[in-house]
Amino acid sequence: MIARRLVSLHSRVFLPSLRTMSSIPPPECLFKEMNIPNRQLYGPGPSTMPQAIGSSQAQPLLGHLHPEFVEIMSQVRLGLQYVFKTRNAYTFAVSGTGHAGMEAAILNLAERGETILVAKAGIWGMRAADLGRRLGLKVEVVEVPDGQVVPVSAIEEAAKRVKPAVIFVCHGESSTGIAQPLEGLSKIAHDNGGLLLVDTVASLGGAPFDADALGVDCVYTATQKVLNAPPGLAPISFSDRAMQKIKNRKERVASFYFDALELGNYWGCDGEMRRYHHTAPISSVYALREALAIIAKKGIDTLIQQHIDNAVALYSQLDQAGFKMFVEKKEDRLPCLHTVRVPEGVDWKAVQSSLFAQGIEVAGGLGATTGKIFRIGTFGQNSEPAKTKEVLSKFIQVVKEQSKL
Ligand SMILES: Cc1ncc(COP(=O)(O)O)c(C=O)c1O
Repeated sequence: MIARRLVSLHSRVFLPSLRTMSSIPPPECLFKEMNIPNRQLYGPGPSTMPQAIGSSQAQPLLGHLHPEFVEIMSQVRLGLQYVFKTRNAYTFAVSGTGHAGMEAAILNLAERGETILVAKAGIWGMRAADLGRRLGLKVEVVEVPDGQVVPVSAIEEAAKRVKPAVIFVCHGESSTGIAQPLEGLSKIAHDNGGLLLVDTVASLGGAPFDADALGVDCVYTATQKVLNAPPGLAPISFSDRAMQKIKNRKERVASFYFDALELGNYWGCDGEMRRYHHTAPISSVYALREALAIIAKKGIDTLIQQHIDNAVALYSQLDQAGFKMFVEKKEDRLPCLHTVRVPEGVDWKAVQSSLFAQGIEVAGGLGATTGKIFRIGTFGQNSEPAKTKEVLSKFIQVVKEQSKL
């Protein structure tokens, strides 16, 4: 009797009336199909996705610890070791976009109060510095004007002075279009008691990179650039030296989700029984597996060379049409993302809209380069010379029409 009264009191006090529940009508827009034009993505990413990668995502879901899925995860790890060029056991993919890779890397490699030395050549160095401050690190920045690379000698001088726990460099600075030289940086980091962290979000597969030969301690990338997969995973790799530091931290990593030891266990990197860590984005892992298979069949070095050859042809086509590249020294340019100065009097937004109308994306600048440059990404399959030539011809024509207005 008392129990029944309590139940009726509970429903009167806590349960919303039907009238309140139905006050928000279902959104009309959800009754219609989504509008997704078939656009060729020649911006700074995401890049155009091959059919095979898209279809892989439509495969049936598996559970995140089902044996067949675990086997796919192992294949992804091998594929990532192949593209990063590393034998690091702790090579896997963080769930999240490139930023998740950056956060996971910095969170794991440095402890509160330690110093991170950031080589800043554009917005991504700035982002790493900001993240370092948020995480309670001391941040030292060596910077250069946009369009230039950070001299190795400047990084060395700063490292000797501040003895950083981590040196951060962005290999492919997508806001300016430079390719940061990496040779000699791991020795500088190690000689000064620290680790080398490299962002290859915009460069992996599109510019020469060899994690083990360069002595890189942590490298991350993202799926939506040269890999031509959808955004959503951040492949990452930690060297044995980095893992040594992580295993001997004074404090546990302040994030469960990004803890390299937890993630490494789930991805099968530590040889122990896999524990549930989070529900992996299953379909995104299928897509990454497919993207890696495409690269394995082509060959990573062939893919990198294709980007380099394609870039040479692109420079010549733009030069003949009277355009100026933003990065003056050819050897400093990223072969998969090209930054072109917006010619005097041209409205870059109007150029972008006009190309959109033709089914092509080319982007403007980012951060300090907004309004100054166009960014043309020729990532992965977009780096086939015939495709690039066709897209560039349309770009050149639209800019020329604009400058006549
Ligand atoms: C060099 C670089 N690092 C990091 C990021 C961040 O990646 P995401 O947008 O996937 O989080 C980007 C994105 O364009 C990038 O180009």
